[in-house]
Amino acid sequence: MIILAIETSCDDTCVAIVEAKGQKRPRFKVLSNMISSQIEVHKKYGGVYPFLAKREHQKNLPLVVSRTLKKNLKIDLIAVTNGPGLEPCLWVGVNFAKTFAYSQNIPITPVNHIEAHILVNFQFPISNFQNIFPAMALIVSGGHTQLILVKEIGKYKIIGETRDDAAGECFDKVAKILGLGYPGGPIVSKKASQNKGARFFDIKLPRPMINQKNYDFSFSGLKTAVLYNYKKEKPKKRKSKKYIQEMCQETQQAIIDVLIKKTLRAAREYRVKTIILGGGVSANQELRKQFKSQWKNRLLVPDKKLSTDNAVMTAIAGYFGKPKDWPKIKADANLRI
Ligand code: KG4
Ligand code: ZN
Repeated sequence: MIILAIETSCDDTCVAIVEAKGQKRPRFKVLSNMISSQIEVHKKYGGVYPFLAKREHQKNLPLVVSRTLKKNLKIDLIAVTNGPGLEPCLWVGVNFAKTFAYSQNIPITPVNHIEAHILVNFQFPISNFQNIFPAMALIVSGGHTQLILVKEIGKYKIIGETRDDAAGECFDKVAKILGLGYPGGPIVSKKASQNKGARFFDIKLPRPMINQKNYDFSFSGLKTAVLYNYKKEKPKKRKSKKYIQEMCQETQQAIIDVLIKKTLRAAREYRVKTIILGGGVSANQELRKQFKSQWKNRLLVPDKKLSTDNAVMTAIAGYFGKPKDWPKIKADANLRI
């Protein structure tokens, strides 16, 4: 089966063609994976500006699809993200996909973006799903931070989530405070890794909700703590290379500490066999390393370039999902898994 997948939930216009085979032991071959990034457009705002994002999707999607499609390739299924995400952006992908499906008479499957971040971990063949489930998925992105109990593919229960900012949003906002640019995650993690030797500044950030006996998160206080510390320092000091590196390292570690402690506790309480990571923040090298050293059972982590938004994950989730009549498919900004 050849799948054409479209993902426009945030600021990247993503299109992929994936070949999928098999039921019990599904196998996927990525034939093409295109991402048209809008980073340059949103950089000056330090975050995604929805109106501009929608305009860019409208401009770019037809071009990206036409570049992705090879002549004589027969598409068997269209998969499209219909939520959660920025509603105006979602509609661009959904309407394009519906028109394509209708005009070419091809089945179309709506895909939940969060489920796609989980299922991308099955890009490589799994010999027996019984060895994987139940699993605990930590989805950490720019818009979401959720702990999801995965009983099996298609059966999910959100057991905790952020009450305010998402983990990726915290990286982005801290980068903005420090004047480092957008998106913040990759820059903060790079500066953190450059910090060698003893710490010079005594920066101690809070680990919000780390000891609370629930699985929720809160990252907005962490960002505020960074802002207060930054304002307290003299301009010369806070602009120094060492201050920036130490602040990035401490911010990254505070986020990692909370994510790992809560995920491990959830994994043990629900007696899962596997921890699954997904979403843009799961590209973070230090987060991956520390998860590996603290969880000795099976850990599924996507390929780095499939951690952040892409349409390969949409294709995979579409393959596991169910086609729907195209007139019934709607974008839903707050779609729950
Ligand atoms: O999943 P994603 O591409 O888009 C959403 O669904 O939101 O996640 C984007 C988020 C951004 O906040 C970005 O700063 C963060 O993922 N991110 C990272 C890294 N790469 C991307 N955060 C920490 N470390 C990284 N290496
Ligand atoms: Zn995402």
